[in-house]
Amino acid sequence: MKVLVIGTGGREHILVHKLNQSSLVNKIFAIPGNDAMSDIAEVHSEIAETEHDRIVEFANENNISWVIIGPEQPLTDGLADKLQAKQIKVFGPNKAAAQIEGSKLFAKQLMEKYNIPTAEYKEITNKFDALQYIETCEYPVVLKKDGLAAGKGVIIAENYEEAVEAVHLLYSQELGTVVFEQFLEGEEFSLMTFVNGDYVVPFDCIAQDHKRAFDEDKGPNTGGMGAYCPVPHIDQKILERTNQEIAQPIAQAMYKEGYMFFGVLYIGVILTNEGPKVIEFNARFGDPEAQVLLTRMESDLMQHILDLEAKREITFKWKDASIVGVMLASKGYPGKYEKGKIVSGFNLDGNYFVSGLKKDKDNFVTSGGRVILALGEGHDIVSAKANAYKAVEKIKSEALFYRKDISNKAIK
Ligand code: AMP
Ligand code: GLY
Repeated sequence: MKVLVIGTGGREHILVHKLNQSSLVNKIFAIPGNDAMSDIAEVHSEIAETEHDRIVEFANENNISWVIIGPEQPLTDGLADKLQAKQIKVFGPNKAAAQIEGSKLFAKQLMEKYNIPTAEYKEITNKFDALQYIETCEYPVVLKKDGLAAGKGVIIAENYEEAVEAVHLLYSQELGTVVFEQFLEGEEFSLMTFVNGDYVVPFDCIAQDHKRAFDEDKGPNTGGMGAYCPVPHIDQKILERTNQEIAQPIAQAMYKEGYMFFGVLYIGVILTNEGPKVIEFNARFGDPEAQVLLTRMESDLMQHILDLEAKREITFKWKDASIVGVMLASKGYPGKYEKGKIVSGFNLDGNYFVSGLKKDKDNFVTSGGRVILALGEGHDIVSAKANAYKAVEKIKSEALFYRKDISNKAIK
């Protein structure tokens, strides 16, 4: 069958790579894709992610069996709806269901109604009320802009002064509403869950991301600076509890409310003293979590998608190995950074997944903030980490930085 992957990043690179291993898939297309995928997929960078009509037309003309949508923007913009209207199968939720990611408020209200454990919150629509609220609230407090922000719309204010600054910043931006959340203390992890309406199958392997830009979780939030799996110190019991208390109930809640979710629901969890609580939902695979999880996955992703569609049993098979991925990003990210810098020294055989590089004559040059994820595999996290950093060392570039402590939380 022919499959079309939508998106340009490292997550889409691993999706293409993983689908290429499936005996069910004989041709892969990518829109807009990236130059690092062009050995294994027909890349159509002349079509933009936002050109929904052209994507539908392309899928029709090329007899695409499945479209797999990687990023959040086309999902919350309703690309799945447009494809489905033409009877094209899509892995990824429709616009209504994608609100679980697109609107913090939607997610919060649903969790409140169905008693799903999460931080307490308050929605404040204007600056005046927000300035009043922060005079009396508990600290630290978390401010989240309603709407998509690529992981960068969240500010943790440690005290009143920081909160004032955050309020001025967030209310000066287009979207008015900000959600104020209680700060949750604990370790974070990411659980990918296959959802087809009321049929819910969480991955039985979780991953841990590193959201902050610098070592020891310092600096601003980013899209993710590295990830690893499995997470040995968060055991199966916690995973089962997260399934029972969060994954199953949120999917049933959406189903009951008439939102037909089909795809991967990403559950961002903080493991507090009171148990697992939700920090966020995403309507898609995490990036860079997908790169480590799908590298560890031995079973056939396309088969899983077909089984999910038919609501058949899904049996994951994982390599008996740990995977660590270290993100190399343009210096300055998540703030301002330069583009067009040469990067070399890497290969494209499954050890590196590319987020922000493009071909310029014979060279790859930077074209984005997060640039390339270097992967390491090993019999445990320690050896996987060592191999990941060996892969990092091979990359030649003056323009990139990376964290040195990816996976340290799993290493005593
Ligand atoms: P989000 O975009 O909602 O995932 O938030 C980005 C990051 O901010 C999370 O990965 C957490 O590290 C942090 N964060 C968000 N909400 C909270 C919270 N209620 N308590 C503590 N940390 C949070
Ligand atoms: N790595 C976090 C995300 O994909 O949102």
